[in-house]
Amino acid sequence: MITTNYLIIGSGVAGLTFAIKIADCFPNKKVTIVTKSNADESNTKYAQGGIAIVTDETEDSYQKHIDDTLICGDGLCDVEVVKIVVTEGPKRLKELIAWGAKFDKTAKGNFDLGKEGGHSQNRVVHHKDQTGQEIERTILDQVHQKGNITVLDHHFALDLITEDNQCLGAFVLNQKTNEIITFQSDFTILATGGIGHLYGHTTNPIIATGDGIAMAFRANATIKDMEFIQFHPTALYDTSIGSKFLISEAVRGFGAYLRTKNGNRFMLDYDKRAELASRDIVSQSIDLELKKSGDECVYLDCTHLDLEAFMKHFPMIYERCKSIGVDITKDWIPVVPAQHYLCGGIVVDKNGKTAIDNLFACGECSRTGLHGANRLASNSLLEALVYSDKIYNYLVDTTLKKKDLNPILSDWKLGKKPKISSDYIVKIKTELQLLMRQNAGIVRYDSDLLKAKEKLMQWQDEVKTISKNNEICSELYELYNMITIGNLIVQQSIIRNENKGSFKKNN
Ligand code: FAD
Ligand code: SIN
Repeated sequence: MITTNYLIIGSGVAGLTFAIKIADCFPNKKVTIVTKSNADESNTKYAQGGIAIVTDETEDSYQKHIDDTLICGDGLCDVEVVKIVVTEGPKRLKELIAWGAKFDKTAKGNFDLGKEGGHSQNRVVHHKDQTGQEIERTILDQVHQKGNITVLDHHFALDLITEDNQCLGAFVLNQKTNEIITFQSDFTILATGGIGHLYGHTTNPIIATGDGIAMAFRANATIKDMEFIQFHPTALYDTSIGSKFLISEAVRGFGAYLRTKNGNRFMLDYDKRAELASRDIVSQSIDLELKKSGDECVYLDCTHLDLEAFMKHFPMIYERCKSIGVDITKDWIPVVPAQHYLCGGIVVDKNGKTAIDNLFACGECSRTGLHGANRLASNSLLEALVYSDKIYNYLVDTTLKKKDLNPILSDWKLGKKPKISSDYIVKIKTELQLLMRQNAGIVRYDSDLLKAKEKLMQWQDEVKTISKNNEICSELYELYNMITIGNLIVQQSIIRNENKGSFKKNN
């Protein structure tokens, strides 16, 4: 057994920024980060557009950012939370800069602010088109400098340990030795990110399988708003299953047009903001265009843009397009919508506390009330920065009520069990991804959702039994978690009858 004061599950922006602050504040306390892949692997690392923050109040204002967030959330945001998150942005940005993160500036020394869908102003602070990589590099570097933080990579959290509605730690699989370690912690923070791979076609990296939400659900935490799945309108078109390269919304903010194969700038027919309508509207419009035409993709036209300025802001996108033979000066970029972000998740209060004592959730796995039915672009890095700070401030003043861990330890005696074949896991995972795309995608139907529910319940029982009777491995547990998340999405979609933001049901 390993004991630690703070157990953080996940090493993206949410987990790492909390770790830095709590480790600094309590140099004699132990902070442990477990993460299931390489330490830097996370949705955070791939963030392109940037962080939405009001940095210049001559053109912009907190009120404008608040209003844009509320409009995008389609009436379902928690207004108090929106105000808190928006107004705390500048402080959190200062911290990132103090830790060493660099953001692009204009010749005059002001932030070079990008624009994305749903924003009435340019307010997106960025590092070229690699903002996430810059943030992840900076905070991981800070973490490595703290003597009281241990980072355990390739450690997969299986389940939380709870008793009497208190979290006592977690069971974690060391993926290199196959040993299951019991972590006893005073406080546990879930920072496990998103769910993209449930859909197969996603902008998310392979780690995004909803583990933290599934764990919290099994432990009886409250899970809400799972029906609000955000599809990004412009992932680079590619028929293979897996992570898709994102063409940042900031490219449309820079002036790119969406066109059908025949050249029609169709977004003008759907919304007066055209390409810069919020993501739900653009994705739903593309979906409709593709259904009407039977085409496989639409196109992003950058041919009229200033190439030198484009290459300065979007060097990675430029190079990636070039690598597949798309010269953005003359060719249009083929794009399709792909799963991108989960607006719902583990319900937390304004201190990041879940319904389980001593358990906190932060970042994409949490549901704070900021996003409502649809997240405003570049508000998620901001949310993670603000809420990791909230959890830190709360825990600075909180003392622990101790509990006895012993009764639970015996549940995880390993014993010799057979290995489940990886063919079985791959087969069910592929079928699950297809089911989610077809039955719980951009536009849903009750009849499809009911069919999906039946299938998911069947898989849930089957995989639960297999998990009990076979050797534990992370692939099997990921599958189990993905089925759990699928069930939550489908069941909450069946219950919702009003179309809101990213949720659209036709019956
Ligand atoms: P993540 O950064 O995803 O980190 C989750 C961590 O948990 C990972 O380290 C993972 O390995 C670990 N983990 C998961 N399960 C387990 C387990 N069972 N055991 C142990 N470890 C586990 N947002 C913006 O605001 N602006 C943008 O410009 C932007 N661009 C984006 C571009 C792309 C391509 C993508 C995919 C997302 C983008 N987003 C953007 C969204 C944003 O990046 C994420 O919402 C945010 O980074 C999530 O941070 P996080 O710390 O909550 O999770
Ligand atoms: C993008 O750069 O288009 C992604 C921004 C986001 O998801 O907030």
